[in-house]
Amino acid sequence: MQVRKARLTDVEEMHQLVNNYAEKGLMLSRPRSMLYEYIRDFVVVEKDGKILGAGALHIMWEDLAEIRALAVKEEYAKQGIGRMIVEFSLQEAKSLGIPKIFTLTYRPEFFKRLGFVEVAKENMPQKVWRECINCPKFPNCDEVCLEINIKLN
Ligand SMILES: CC(C)(COP(=O)(O)OP(=O)(O)OC[C@H]1O[C@@H](n2cnc3c(N)ncnc32)[C@H](O)[C@@H]1OP(=O)(O)O)[C@@H](O)C(=O)NCCC(=O)NCCS
Repeated sequence: MQVRKARLTDVEEMHQLVNNYAEKGLMLSRPRSMLYEYIRDFVVVEKDGKILGAGALHIMWEDLAEIRALAVKEEYAKQGIGRMIVEFSLQEAKSLGIPKIFTLTYRPEFFKRLGFVEVAKENMPQKVWRECINCPKFPNCDEVCLEINIKLN
């Protein structure tokens, strides 16, 4: 298993992975155009040429980034793949000098295992809500907001 930055040739598999969960209402659907446009945000876990999981680190502001679109193939769950993606992204955030990372999720317990703590969504700055306009649930969000502060040195 290898964790690495995504490439354009990964997009088709990433699209299937994310939209499979989106159909079940577990995450926002993402069109291919968005995956291509934001490919530099994405990290994937690959095994034998197949994508088993993907997730993105999206920079929001000078001190803030979001972990989004995190998905691991159902049949590979609970094998540490989600952790690999998040830890790789946190390492990247550190190297970019970003001290705070947040996420909006239906899986708060997973993020808590990785050191994130729950925070009130209402306290997050307004710029955080840009992507939410595209959510079918907007403005009645039932996701949980969590954040982690990372030591930069
Ligand atoms: C949530 C998700 C990303 C977790 O990925 P994963 O590869 O199964 O997680 P890992 O194996 O790396 O788990 C890391 C830790 O979190 C725990 N964990 C994983 N999923 C969990 C869950 N749903 N509830 C509670 N704990 C969970 C694991 O037991 C593990 O604990 P440990 O450190 O004690 O061993 C994956 O199940 C998924 O893709 N879900 C559907 C999409 C989704 O909800 N994405 C959420 C972000 S928007």
